[in-house]
Amino acid sequence: MNLIKSLTQRVSLSHTATVLFAATAITGFAQTNAPVPVIQVQADKVTAKMPPTFYGLMTEEINFSYEGGLYGELIRNRAFKADAITQNLKANDYDPALHYPAKFAENVSPKFWKSIGGATLVLDTNTPLNEALNVSVKVDASSASKTSPAGVVNGGFWGIPTEPKTTYTVSFFAKAASGFTGPLTASIESTNGKVLASAVISGVTGEWKQFETTLKTQSGKPSKDNVFKLTTTAPGTIWLQEVSLFPPTYKNRPNGDRKDLSQLLADAQPKFLRFPGGNYVEGNDFVNRFNWKQMIGPVEQRPGHKSCWGYWSTDGFGLPEFLGWCQDIGMEPVLAVFAGYTLNRDHVTNSAALEPYVQEALEEIEYVTGDASTKWGAQRIKDGYPNPFPLNYVEVGNEDFFDRSGSYEWRFAQFFDAIRAKYPKLKIISTTAVKSRVADVIDDHTYVNETAMEAQAFKYDARDRSNPTKVFVGEWATQPSSPTPTMAGALGDAAWMCCLERNADVVVMHCYAPLFVNVSKLAGPDRSMQWNYNLIGYDALNSYGSPAYYAQKMFSLHMGDEVVAISAQNLPVRSAPAGRNGGTREVKSLFYSATRDSASGKLIVKIVNSADTAQPVTIDISGVKSVAAKGTATVLKAASRTETNDLKNPQHLVPVTEKIKQLGTNFTRTFPPCSITVLELQAK
Ligand code: AHR
Repeated sequence: MNLIKSLTQRVSLSHTATVLFAATAITGFAQTNAPVPVIQVQADKVTAKMPPTFYGLMTEEINFSYEGGLYGELIRNRAFKADAITQNLKANDYDPALHYPAKFAENVSPKFWKSIGGATLVLDTNTPLNEALNVSVKVDASSASKTSPAGVVNGGFWGIPTEPKTTYTVSFFAKAASGFTGPLTASIESTNGKVLASAVISGVTGEWKQFETTLKTQSGKPSKDNVFKLTTTAPGTIWLQEVSLFPPTYKNRPNGDRKDLSQLLADAQPKFLRFPGGNYVEGNDFVNRFNWKQMIGPVEQRPGHKSCWGYWSTDGFGLPEFLGWCQDIGMEPVLAVFAGYTLNRDHVTNSAALEPYVQEALEEIEYVTGDASTKWGAQRIKDGYPNPFPLNYVEVGNEDFFDRSGSYEWRFAQFFDAIRAKYPKLKIISTTAVKSRVADVIDDHTYVNETAMEAQAFKYDARDRSNPTKVFVGEWATQPSSPTPTMAGALGDAAWMCCLERNADVVVMHCYAPLFVNVSKLAGPDRSMQWNYNLIGYDALNSYGSPAYYAQKMFSLHMGDEVVAISAQNLPVRSAPAGRNGGTREVKSLFYSATRDSASGKLIVKIVNSADTAQPVTIDISGVKSVAAKGTATVLKAASRTETNDLKNPQHLVPVTEKIKQLGTNFTRTFPPCSITVLELQAK
C-alpha cells in the first residue's frame, strides 16, 4: 500500500492526473483492490539506437521449408536421388567424388514417382546426366500405344497446385534408346483425370538434351489435387533427369520462390536473413554438411544432399537462391558458416584439419561480398547476382554448446582470427561462450512454453552492460501448440519482444525459428513436419500466418529508431500452467516497451496483456511538452489464448488498427484480455 501511495504521489507530482485504482477508475470493470499498473515512459531518455536490422528471419531446410515450401519447384524428387534417404545410407556409403551413394541399389523404382500405361521405372546409375546427377530414371515404355500412353507421374509435395489462367514452366533432360521416335507429352492433370494443361515435346535423341515448354491452365478453380505426367504414345525406352515444373515466381525470378509465402514475408518487413541454419549448416555428418560449393552454379550441376531433417535436398535452393531471397525481400544476409562440427558430434581434431573449412568460409564470404575481380565474387556474378551483398555479420557454426569435447574454443579462435584478418569490419558471432577471443556477438537461443517465456521476459534488463559481447537471439519461440502457435504463443512472443526491444543496447538483432512448416502431413512416415512449432504454415496451394507471425509483423512494422526508457509499477500477475509436470506458477501478465521515431517525434508504446481479463493501465509520459489527444492503436487479440489461425481460417486473428482518443501525457486505457497493442502517440 505504501508503494502505491508513494507512486500516486510521484505521478501526481509530474502530472495533474492521478493514479487510480481499478475498482474506481473503470466503470463496469470487476471490483478488485489491485492498483492500476502504471507504465512510465521517459520520452527524452534514449537508452539505445534501434538497430535498423533488429527484426529478421531465421531459416533452414526443415519441415519442407524450401523444397515443398518457398522454393518454387513443384516436382518432388526431380533428380531421382531421394532413395538415398530410404536406404538410410551413412557417410561412408557415399563416394565423396561422386556425391552419390556408392552402395545405392539399382533397379528400384524412384520414390515419389509412379508409372502409367504399363511403363516400368528403374533408377539407372549407368546412364548419368553428369557427375553431379549421376543417376537417371530409365523408363521402359514399350507398352505405349496411341490409346494407352505410358510414362511417369509425379504427385509433387502433397499435390501439384494450379491456379486458373496461369503459365507453368516444364523442363527436363531426356535421351532415348535407338528406335524411339517420340514425341513426349507433358501435362498437369487433376487426380480424377481431367487434363488441365498439356504440351507436346519432340526431338528426344540418343544424347542427353534439355527440353523446355510451358503449360497454360484455363479458367477454373485453384486446386492442389493434381499430378504432373510425362508420357509417350510411341513405344521405346527413355531416360529422364532433372524433371522440373515451376509456377510463376515472386518477382519473376528464374529458379525463384513461391509467391504467397514471399508476400507474407515481405509484408512483415524483415531486415535480415540468418541462413543456412540451424542444424542445416552442420548436417548430420561431414558429407551432408552445408557444402556451399556444391550449391552454386546451374541447378543440374548440384549433386544434392541429405538434409539433417530426414529428407533429400536437391539443393536447387542453394547459396545464390538464399541471396536472391534476401534481395527480393530487402534483407541483409547473416551468414552462418560450417565450423568443422556435425550433428553426430563428429568434429575435426586439430587445426590443420580445420583449416580447409576456414578457407571454405572465407571463400563463401567472398562469394557473398566480392566484386568481379575476385574468384568467388565473379562466380556469384555468373550465377546471376551482379552486385555484392552487404554483409555485416558472420556466425561460426551453430549451437556449439552441444560439442562437449571443448573443441569450439579453438575452432572458433581459428575462424575468428582468419575472418578478422581478411574482413576486419565483419562482426563475428559465436554460438556459445568462448574465452580465448572476445566474440563481437553471441547467439542465444530459447524455445520455451508461454509461462516460461513470460517469466524470462525481463532477462536482458539484468544483463551486465560492461560485457563487450552483444547478443543475437538467433532462434527463439514460444511453443504452445503444433504445427503453428495459438494466441498463447503470440502473447509469450510479444512479452519476449518487448524485452528484446527494451534492451536493444545489448541485443543487436533477433529472429523467430523455425519459420516455415508444410502442414500437409503432420505425422507418420514421410511426414511434412519435423519440428512442432513454427511461424507460417502452408500446403501446396495455400498458406497462413500464425498469430505469432502477426505479433512479429506488428513489432517489425512499428520499430522506431530510438528506444526510450520505460518502467512500471504495480505489475499484475496471473496464475499460469507451470509446464509438463502440471501445477501452476505466478507470472507477470503485463509487458511493455517504448520506442520513438526521432524525425517525427512519434512515440510507439507496446503493451501486452497476457491475462484472461481486461487490464486498465495508466501510461505516464515525461520528457515531452505534450501528447496529442488522438492517436492510433493496433491490436491483436483473441477471445481465448487457445484461438489460432490455420489453412481454413487464415485470418481469424489479425491485428486491427483503430483511431483512439483521450490520450495525453497521462492517460488510463483498458487493454483487452489476451491482447498485444501498439500505441502510436504524436508527441511534441
Ligand atoms: O529451429 C530448429 C532447430 O533448433 C535448429 O535447427 C537448431 O539450431 C535448434 O536446435
